[in-house]
Amino acid sequence: MNTPSLADMRKNYQQAELLESHAAAQPLQQFGTWLQEAIASQIPEPNAMTLATVSSELRPSTRVVLIKAYDERGLVWFTNYNSRKGRELAGNPFAALQFHWVELERVVRIEGRVEKISEEESDQYFHSRPLASRIGAWASPQSEVIASREWLETSSQKFAAQFAQHPPRPPHWGGYRLVPEQWEFWQGGSARLHDRLQYQWRNGQWLIQRLAP
Ligand SMILES: Cc1cc2nc3c(=O)[nH]c(=O)nc-3n(C[C@H](O)[C@H](O)[C@H](O)COP(=O)(O)O)c2cc1C
Repeated sequence: MNTPSLADMRKNYQQAELLESHAAAQPLQQFGTWLQEAIASQIPEPNAMTLATVSSELRPSTRVVLIKAYDERGLVWFTNYNSRKGRELAGNPFAALQFHWVELERVVRIEGRVEKISEEESDQYFHSRPLASRIGAWASPQSEVIASREWLETSSQKFAAQFAQHPPRPPHWGGYRLVPEQWEFWQGGSARLHDRLQYQWRNGQWLIQRLAP
């Protein structure tokens, strides 16, 4: 079978349009509509988003995390505060998030400042997780070099034996919230005439502007 060359791979987008007349005045509302549509369409992992952070040497890096909550305060995910992303956020709290819902021909980009959520909120979510995930939060020194797969499994067994059914939340594990200052909603259009609506927080309200594709 002949596989197409990368240079020949392209898709014409034609599912939908995003017009100012239909876009929500509040980006959170627009996001909620699109996220619910992504979940309803049963695409895999609609809650997965790419998180970009920047190191103190001004080098960007990305990874995928899961959105676990959102409201007027911002978007929340959970992780290890000592991980690479945690260290980068401690040095530079500005970050960007991106959802790419391939099947819906949609992208959402969000930029803003990141803060840790409260200990109570982190506790609440931690204790809702399956036992193996709670043990994993103790067993894995996320982003550090480890000796082997075996080392990780031994670490997991050690913490499983230590905590049995009731691991507490590790102090180095919890949630972050990105407080949006700017959003972009991208809807693929035909002949590369995509729709891009940008929302920026200006003088106490959201300014909506169309960007060239
Ligand atoms: C679909 C998906 C969801 C993920 N969700 C999370 C998450 O919610 N939190 C997390 O810490 N890592 C998550 N990961 C793992 C991260 O992508 C990454 O490997 C890890 O956080 C370490 O990143 P860092 O070394 O840049 O800090 C997820 C990976 C995938 C593929």
